[in-house]
Formats: sequence, structure tokens, C-alpha cells
Amino acid sequence: MAVSLCARRADRLAAIAADIRAAGGLALPVAADVSNEGDVRAFVTRTLATLGRLDVAVCNAGIGFHGALEDTTPEVMARLLAVNYLGTFHTARAALPYFEQQGSGHLVIVSSIVGRRGLPFYEGYAASKFAQSGLAEALRSQYAGTAIHVSTVFPVSTRTEFREAMARSYGSQLRGHGPQQSAEQVARAILRCLERPRPEVWPYRWARWLVWLSAVAPGTTDRMMRRFARRQARAEDA
Ligand SMILES: NC(=O)c1ccc[n+]([C@@H]2O[C@H](COP(=O)([O-])OP(=O)(O)OC[C@H]3O[C@@H](n4cnc5c(N)ncnc54)[C@H](OP(=O)(O)O)[C@@H]3O)[C@@H](O)[C@H]2O)c1
Repeated sequence: MAVSLCARRADRLAAIAADIRAAGGLALPVAADVSNEGDVRAFVTRTLATLGRLDVAVCNAGIGFHGALEDTTPEVMARLLAVNYLGTFHTARAALPYFEQQGSGHLVIVSSIVGRRGLPFYEGYAASKFAQSGLAEALRSQYAGTAIHVSTVFPVSTRTEFREAMARSYGSQLRGHGPQQSAEQVARAILRCLERPRPEVWPYRWARWLVWLSAVAPGTTDRMMRRFARRQARAEDA
């Protein structure tokens, strides 16, 4: 597949595009902010003009925030929603008309395990990720049985620059604890989903059981989550 890439940092995009080209692929880097509807529309238009078609749109751009609710200011919450939810919303609104026109397409929405099961001190982030999975579920039902697929990805903690980005924006110093996976594992799970479309992708399969447990025994799961968050806080302090 030819890859059209968007993020805000043009130098990072150019480096990834160079890697793809060096491996024999076709890459189009476009600097854009997904929270800006105009940027997203321009990105999709440029992709179509340059590459000729749009088969898959992956809504992956996202930011995190860790902190108690009283420390989650309205500005922080608005930014979480603008990037994590509205970024997905703008992308879906820009891509779906083309998918409908060509009669096929695949929208992949990268949510998080906390987009299915809230975790203490991630209230704002969890809300933005729940919003994404709600949008995905509604769209998925709308296109069920057609050649337009909508898939939601629910990664657990992943070794990426996510925590560095939180430190840059909000000064939080987190190393990350609990089950972890590599970005490559998540990417491979998404690739398998493109080959054989599925409603949901769980790159760390045990995470599914947590959601099941939460549906069956929400109070018990709350206490587990509370203990998990406390252990995490102690490990971060150590
Ligand atoms: N890492 C985890 O533990 C974890 C777990 C579950 C789910 N997730 C989800 O996985 C997705 C990818 O995150 P990651 O872990 O790969 O984090 P990351 O290493 O910080 O990457 C985030 C990417 O999003 C881009 N981005 C951020 N804000 C943007 C904006 N306003 N417009 C356009 N691009 C933007 C960043 O590029 P620029 O800064 O250059 O814009 C960067 O390429 C996110 O949706 C995240 O919520 C992550």
C-alpha cells in the first residue's frame, strides 16, 4: 500500500517517509493537526490527488494525560477531546464520503483499553477514548454487512513516545507499569485486521477478559483497578 502520513512535526514525518521509500514503498508526508477540521480535509484531499484513491484511514494520533480530576483543567480536557475524539471525528467525516463513492473502505480507530474500562487518574483520557469507541461502534453498526469496515483497536500500555509527549506537554514523569506491548505488536495486529477486517482488535488478548469481568462484576473490577493504580503509583515513586 502507498502510505499517506500525517502528524504535526514535519521533520519526523519526512524521516518516516524516507524509511518507507528506502524500503521500496510509496509515502506522502503531510504536516497537519488532526484537531483542525481544515487540516484533516486538506490531508485527505491531497492524499486523493496524489495517490488516486483511499482504501484505509487509520485514526491513530492521540495524546494522554495522567492526574487526578481536580488537576484535569477544562483546557486539558478540551485538548484531549480535540485530538483524541475530534481528530477521529474529522477523519471519519472526511474519509467516509470517499469510501461510499468507491463502495469500499476501512476506517481503523485506535482507542485504548481505557476506552473500554476506566482507570483511576486517567479520567479525562479515558473519557476521550470512550468517545472514540462510541463513535466507532455506532458507525460500525451503520455499515454492517457492507464493504465499508470500521474497526476499533484497544491496545494496553505500549512502548512508544506517549509518556515523553505527556512529559513535554504536562510535565508528568511516568515510566509505565503493568502489562506492556511493543508498537510493532500493535501495528501487526492492525495489519492482520486490514487483511481480514474485524470489528475489534485486541493486540494484548488478555485485556479482553478485563472488559468481560467489568461487565459481569463492575464493583470487583473497580476495586482491582484501584489496587492496580495504587501499585502503579508506588512503583513510580520508588
Ligand atoms: N502508548 C500507550 O501506552 C497507548 C496505549 C493505548 C492506546 N494508545 C493510543 O495509541 C495511539 C498512538 O499513540 P502512541 O502511543 O504511538 O503515542 P506517541 O508515540 O506519542 O505518538 C502519537 C502520535 O500522534 C501524533 N499527534 C499527536 N497530536 C497530534 C495532532 N494534534 N495532530 C496530528 N498528529 C498528532 C504525534 O505526532 P506529532 O507530535 O508530530 O503531531 C505522534 O506521531 C494514541 O491514540 C494513543 O491514545 C497508546
